[in-house]
Formats: sequence, structure tokens, C-alpha cells
Amino acid sequence: MTMSTPTIEPTHFRDVMGHLPTGVVVVAGREPGTNSPAGLIVGTFQSLSLSPPLVSFSVTTTSRSWPRIRPSGQFSASVLAAEQRHVCRALSTRGHDKFAEVDWHESTSGAPQIAGAHAWIDCRITQELPGGDHLIVIAEVCRLEAGHGEPLVFHRGRLGAIRERGH
Ligand SMILES: Cc1cc2nc3c(=O)[nH]c(=O)nc-3n(C[C@H](O)[C@H](O)[C@H](O)COP(=O)(O)O)c2cc1C
Repeated sequence: MTMSTPTIEPTHFRDVMGHLPTGVVVVAGREPGTNSPAGLIVGTFQSLSLSPPLVSFSVTTTSRSWPRIRPSGQFSASVLAAEQRHVCRALSTRGHDKFAEVDWHESTSGAPQIAGAHAWIDCRITQELPGGDHLIVIAEVCRLEAGHGEPLVFHRGRLGAIRERGH
């Protein structure tokens, strides 16, 4: 007997998966040729392997920024700090100059890093795998550095800070 896959409504999927809190990360690079900065917000950034040091995230196949970042073979990930909601808004909204009102500087590789972020990770793309309507990007960590303060967190459709943490 074959088992059919139950139909999962996209809104239900989003609602339940939204109970899993995530960090808010800017993935940014330089478009070869124009050298202009390109980037987007991802909530799927995570560490993948310690030795070798690898990270991964998933990017929608309809992303406009990823095809501009990919050809350089590298990107910088900026883990946003609690007070950087405006950066999240700017980098997750299409159809405007995403970097115009965002304070950023160049990493040693030349990729844009968000000033005042909670952490920065410079990466070299090693693999891209299909993942439904997303691509899974795997990258090697070249350089990383922690900043200060608290991280920005996305949970149940809302941005916030971590209110309480036990030790
Ligand atoms: C908190 C948050 C998390 C997100 N996570 C992802 C993600 O993991 N992958 C993705 O492709 N888009 C994600 N997005 C949506 C993109 O940031 C958004 O669609 C963006 O406008 C895409 O830009 P682009 O078309 O210039 O690439 C997220 C947005 C927010 C606000």
C-alpha cells in the first residue's frame, strides 16, 4: 500500500514554523561588473559544520539579489542587533535602493557588512543544492567576528529582542 503525502496548507506551514524563533541575518555581496552592493534578509542562516567550518542558509529561487551576489563566489553575513529593525525592513523590501539608508562598510573581501551588527561572518560559496522553492547555499567561513549587544529575533511573524534568558 502506498501512502499519499498529506496536503499542507502554506499558511498553516508558515504559522506553525513561525513558532521556531530565528536570527535575522543580512547576506550581502558585490555585483561583479557594477560593483554595487546587493543583499537580502534571511532567517535560515545557521552553522553547518565545525571542521571544516561551514554555514548554510536557504534562498528563494525568485530572489533578485542572490543572482547578483553569487557570481563573486563570496558574501558577508551580518547578524542583526536588536535595535536594527530598520535594516531588516530595508533589506527585506524590494524595489528600492536597499543600502541607501543603511550604515555599512566593506569586509576584507569587499562584501558589504552592516555597521553595528551583532556578529559578522565572511564566507566563500562552496555548494548550492535544490530545496523545493528555495536553494540551499553552503559556504566556507573565511573570517568571523562577534559584535556587542543583543541579537534581533524573528518569532511568530514579529521582530523583537530576547527579553529574558536564564543561565
Ligand atoms: C525575518 C525574515 C526572514 C527571511 N528569511 C528568508 C530566507 O531565509 N530566505 C529567503 O530567500 N528570503 C527570506 N526572507 C525574505 C527576503 O528577505 C525578501 O523576500 C527580500 O525582499 C528578497 O530580496 P531580493 O529579491 O532582493 O533577493 C526573509 C524576510 C524576513 C523579514
